[in-house]
Amino acid sequence: MARALAPSKIIIAGEHFVVEGEPAIASAIDLFADVTAEESYENAIRIESVDLDNRKHVIKSTLNERIIDYTGKEKTKKTLRPILRAVRKTMDFLNVNTGIDIYINSKIPPSAGLGSSAAVAVAASAATMKLLGFELNKETVWKAAFEAERIVHKNPSGIDITISTYGGMILYKKGEKPVILKRSEKAIFLIAYTGKRMPTGKIVEEVLNLKKSFPEIINPLYISAGALTKKLVDYLKNEDLVNAGKLLNINHELLSALGLSTFKIDLLVNIARKKGAYGAKLTGAGKGGVMFALVDKDSLERVKEALTKRAKFVYEAKIVDEGVKVF
Ligand code: MEV
Repeated sequence: MARALAPSKIIIAGEHFVVEGEPAIASAIDLFADVTAEESYENAIRIESVDLDNRKHVIKSTLNERIIDYTGKEKTKKTLRPILRAVRKTMDFLNVNTGIDIYINSKIPPSAGLGSSAAVAVAASAATMKLLGFELNKETVWKAAFEAERIVHKNPSGIDITISTYGGMILYKKGEKPVILKRSEKAIFLIAYTGKRMPTGKIVEEVLNLKKSFPEIINPLYISAGALTKKLVDYLKNEDLVNAGKLLNINHELLSALGLSTFKIDLLVNIARKKGAYGAKLTGAGKGGVMFALVDKDSLERVKEALTKRAKFVYEAKIVDEGVKVF
């Protein structure tokens, strides 16, 4: 038996813009995907997942990914299909072909903007690798998880799986080696969940279509987001939370201009700002999911209390330095 834990993430700035090559900042946080892999005596890949409401979902396929059985609805198939790909690709990269049982126990709310599918794919790949007797090779895990991400949405930037694989706080640009950032000791990221799930793939596609339809209007927003993200790196490094907050607010408005905010997200963002957060923005794909507020220890309780009244849950995210690990 082998087990792997992979962290989820928040995107601090630059989501969506990162898909088209602009930089983004992301951080691994202490909500984990926990995956166990066991040998199977069948020539099959079986994946079992228990969701946050304690419901069990199972998908079973042949060794070449032909689905032969699944519980419940099409949705189970859709959610677990990328994980099947991550496991299969890991075996391909390691030149192994064997039956395997995967058990997923994730504490990350799915489709909330916290990178749940990426964290589960990364953990599933790492657990598979360990079970098959190989040392953890993060590059291989990343490659297998990237194939899984491509099922979730056609055009992933790779930021979610990078952060779940390597951890920490990073500046990420598609196709480049991520830069590890020094994180501020003062900054606290308070996340609040609207309660509304959103399909990342569809939203990413809508944004790209908007950009294609109105390039002369939308392209400047990308340039602005890129510049903002680079400047934010310095403000966070120098613990200048006042200016960091201003840039986060601008980033939120840029995402709003792309149609990614909702009444509920705006409500939470405005409550956080009014109660003394340095800045607040949606994070992840948008149109639901989560937002976060940048606070310090003086404003933490005030903002938390106000958000708790309106959000499905509020969570003080701890940044984790380590990425996926195996046991
Ligand atoms: C989703 O967590 C982040 C997006 O920028 C998509 C991506 O980068 O692949 C919306």
